[in-house]
Amino acid sequence: MTDQAPSAESDIPGKPTSASRTTLSHIMTHNDTNLLGTVHGGVIMKLVDDAAGAVAGRHSGGPAVTASMDEMVFLEPVRVGDLVHVKAQVNWTGRTSMEVGVRVLAERWNESDPATQVGSAYLVFAAVDADGKPRMVPPVLPETERDKRRYQEAQIRPHPPAGPAPRDHGAAGEEGGGGVRGLRRAYRGLKRSAVHRHPTSSPVTTPNSP
Ligand SMILES: CC(C)(COP(=O)(O)OP(=O)(O)OC[C@H]1O[C@@H](n2cnc3c(N)ncnc32)[C@H](O)[C@@H]1OP(=O)(O)O)[C@@H](O)C(=O)NCCC(=O)NCCS
Repeated sequence: MTDQAPSAESDIPGKPTSASRTTLSHIMTHNDTNLLGTVHGGVIMKLVDDAAGAVAGRHSGGPAVTASMDEMVFLEPVRVGDLVHVKAQVNWTGRTSMEVGVRVLAERWNESDPATQVGSAYLVFAAVDADGKPRMVPPVLPETERDKRRYQEAQIRPHPPAGPAPRDHGAAGEEGGGGVRGLRRAYRGLKRSAVHRHPTSSPVTTPNSP
């Protein structure tokens, strides 16, 4: 695995995970509720996309668009008055894409207990230029053991290979590509066909554990 090497197709220097990691905090109000009186999942998803987008923009040094949002998990209800913290960081980088991992925590308005994890998600952002075309991103340089674990998990998320997979961006213009990139493409293809076959089925989810 050449996780800390610059992209084979660019000499953009890497950036450490901490350079773009961020937390977005928001107090939930009555405007955020669903019919049950708890906070609407879409409100949380907007915060997740906002925080992840901020991280992707900071990491890539310019605009980035959401390409996919995977494995959004809601673990506990969020209530009016709760202080919600959305913590996001780049877990993995490809050539022009970045996987951003997000954890959602809630501090209950009426308790002094530590914040509870109420959700998590993985998003892929593509860095784009002024014409909306994908542009190269700096490789992320995982720093802590946790960053390194998340990087490795992101690499194998599409289809865990039997052993450590080399980082492979595939040849330019190559259909499918090899290595991790090829696996990611294959995974997306499988997901798309699964959604067509079972439009209402949701993917198996795994919380973005601390
Ligand atoms: C995302 C987007 C820029 C990709 O453009 P494209 O012409 O398909 O370019 P590519 O196929 O080269 O994809 C660019 C990168 O995004 C990744 N990507 C594209 N679609 C993806 C998806 N659905 N899930 C995960 N990654 C994806 C590719 O793997 C590639 O990554 P890499 O360069 O690191 O290997 C384009 O589809 C787009 O603009 N989508 C709309 C984005 C948007 O409006 N988001 C807001 C949501 S409403």
